[in-house]
Amino acid sequence: MPQDADPAFSAAAIEALLAPAVGRLEPPTSLSPLPYDLNAGVPDRPSLPAAELQAALERALAADAAGALTYGGQQGYEPLRAWIGERQSAETGLEVTSAHVTLTTGSAHAIDNIAATFIGEGDVVVVGAPTYPGAIRTFLARGASIIDVPQDDHGLIPSALARVLDTRRMTGRQAKLLYVQANYDNPSGATLPVERRAAIASLARQHGVLLVEDDAYTGIDLDGPPLTSLYELAGGRGIMRVGTFSKTIATGLRVGYITAQPEIIRQLVFMRFDNGSPPILHRMVHEYVRSGAYDPHVRRLQEIYRERRDASAAALREFCEPYITFQVPSGGFFHWLRLRPGLDAKAVVAAAKERGVAVTPGTGYYSTGGGEDRIRLVFSALPPADLHEAIRRLGEAMEAVANTSIGGA
Ligand SMILES: Cc1ncc(COP(=O)(O)O)c(C=O)c1O
Repeated sequence: MPQDADPAFSAAAIEALLAPAVGRLEPPTSLSPLPYDLNAGVPDRPSLPAAELQAALERALAADAAGALTYGGQQGYEPLRAWIGERQSAETGLEVTSAHVTLTTGSAHAIDNIAATFIGEGDVVVVGAPTYPGAIRTFLARGASIIDVPQDDHGLIPSALARVLDTRRMTGRQAKLLYVQANYDNPSGATLPVERRAAIASLARQHGVLLVEDDAYTGIDLDGPPLTSLYELAGGRGIMRVGTFSKTIATGLRVGYITAQPEIIRQLVFMRFDNGSPPILHRMVHEYVRSGAYDPHVRRLQEIYRERRDASAAALREFCEPYITFQVPSGGFFHWLRLRPGLDAKAVVAAAKERGVAVTPGTGYYSTGGGEDRIRLVFSALPPADLHEAIRRLGEAMEAVANTSIGGA
């Protein structure tokens, strides 16, 4: 009998065996086969530092092949943790040593490590609305009950957060985690002003809520250095700062990290059941970052993405202005478009698809509804000329939907 005709373990039978969380999750965004992909938040391919990484890997293997090719422990390669600690010490003025850092398999895994360590069925996690769907999925998969706090153009609104935390306190079930992207939020592009950061850090401390500061896009700084981190404002207490080399070196590395006080790091490390992240990659990344090639590479990326951000913003003004408003982000990979009243994001996404352009409807970025009038557009992956053409087509799609909406009204 051919394997797929075997009635045992059919798709339905397998579905019946799934963990309850699986049914609660939305599918993730993915690479699109369309000619113009403004959907997946991926870096520019030609600038990936392949030759430098190859040389770094050779150096790492030549220096200590057995170390690179043997289990390296749950916390990860100490010299790379020390390098991250030194950088963050210089930035924050706080003591950040290798004992304050644990290495993960990308920052997506860092969020899961945090969720596995702190979240049980029904525990409350507070997130911004909108926020990164990967974080929503991870917290839901661990059984969290998610509460949204609205964002405006400047990010999470502290007064709204205060109301949520006060209400939680009154119910006797305080939130455990507050997940925040202070710099260049995915999807909104918003950067929290320092006063808001200070207010958020102080509210979290007052209510005994652990902060998770997701710094995935820090480094992709397009208008100068980033503002003071939540980590610094919180004095490194009650906070887990999540970082990654995905956006500044390569997403394929899957090398991320968490910085936190050692009491927290020990618990996170305790909850690693995968024998740690790959030592060979830690050693390669360490060789690369200490070679002196990393900082110029990041500056080059900033130039590339600044040019793309500016080209895409100009094209949006040229072709989409009647249908949208948007704020130019000061870093990261995304424009977050607000559609004119009456224009529905899903209809615009469908019309853009017909014209060979993939963009993402805003609805996936809210855990409890919203985003019907929003579209996320990735400017990182395509060169300026392609962005211009893709956004010209997107403008046509918006016009077509606007005409249909008027016609249908
Ligand atoms: C906000 C945010 N956090 C975390 C991640 C995960 O990135 P990685 O696991 O590649 O470090 C992403 C990926 O796009 C992201 O947008």
